Amino acid sequence: MNTKLGVNIDHIATIRQARKALEPDPVAAAYIAESGGADGITIHLRSDRRHIQDRDLFLLRETVKTRLNVEMAATEGMISVIREARPDTVTLVPERPEELTTEGGLNVIKYEAEITKAIEIFQGEGINVSLFIDPDEEQIDKSISIGAAMVELNTAAYAEAVPSGLNEFDPGFVKCRDELRRVSSYAASGGLRVLAGHGLTYRNVYPVSSIPEMEELNIGHNIIARASLVGLKLAVEEMLAAMNPR
Ligand code: PXP
Repeated sequence: MNTKLGVNIDHIATIRQARKALEPDPVAAAYIAESGGADGITIHLRSDRRHIQDRDLFLLRETVKTRLNVEMAATEGMISVIREARPDTVTLVPERPEELTTEGGLNVIKYEAEITKAIEIFQGEGINVSLFIDPDEEQIDKSISIGAAMVELNTAAYAEAVPSGLNEFDPGFVKCRDELRRVSSYAASGGLRVLAGHGLTYRNVYPVSSIPEMEELNIGHNIIARASLVGLKLAVEEMLAAMNPR
C-alpha cells in the first residue's frame, strides 16, 4: 500500500503573518494541497499563535475534504479550543515558547498523567490521537500502556544526520534509518499505527516512506519551500500581466 502524505501548511501562515496580511491563506493552500493528492492537512496551533490562527483552524474544519490533523500541546487552554473545532486527529507534541520548531518527541513516560488525560478526553469524543515521540522502544511501550492507538515517530535526528541530502553510507544516517525501521516494526507489532515526520525532504524521504509499517508522513517545510520556488516564474509572469494588461 502507498504511504500517505499529510501536508503541513503552517508555513503558508508564516508568510502571511510576516506582514499580518490577508495572503497567502492556509484555506486556499489546503485546497491546492488536496488537489495535488494530499491525504490529509496538518496544522500546528501553537500557544503563541505565531503562524496558524484560530480563524484558520475553524475555517479549515469546514473546508478540508480529506482529514484535518492538528498538532498541539496538551494544555487545558488548547484542549478546549480543539474540542470545539473537532479535527479528525490531534497530534500531541511538546512545545517550548522560544523554539523555532518542535524540538523533540513527547516524553510520554515523564508526562504520563497529562497525556493520558488528553487521550481520554479526545478519544471519548471520537477524535483520533497521535503521539509525536522519538523512535525509542520505552516511549512506544508507555504509549501502548496508556491507550494510544497511533504514534508519529520524530525523524528530526534522521534528517539532521545528513542535512544536505542523502548519503546512504554515512554511519550516523544508517544508524538513524535502522532505528526508525526497528522501532516502526516494534510499534506495529504492539498494535500501534505508525506515522513519521519532521525534517523530511525530497532527498531523504524514500528510506522512511518505504518502511513497510509506515502508514503516513507529515511533511511541511520542504514542500512549502519548494512550492515557493517552482511557483515563482508564474507569479512574476502574472504580476507583469497585472501591470501591463492587454
Ligand atoms: N510532525 C510534527 C509533529 C511537527 O511538529 C512538524 C513541524 O511542525 C512536522 C511533522 C513537519 O515537519 P517539517 O515542517 O520539517 O516537514
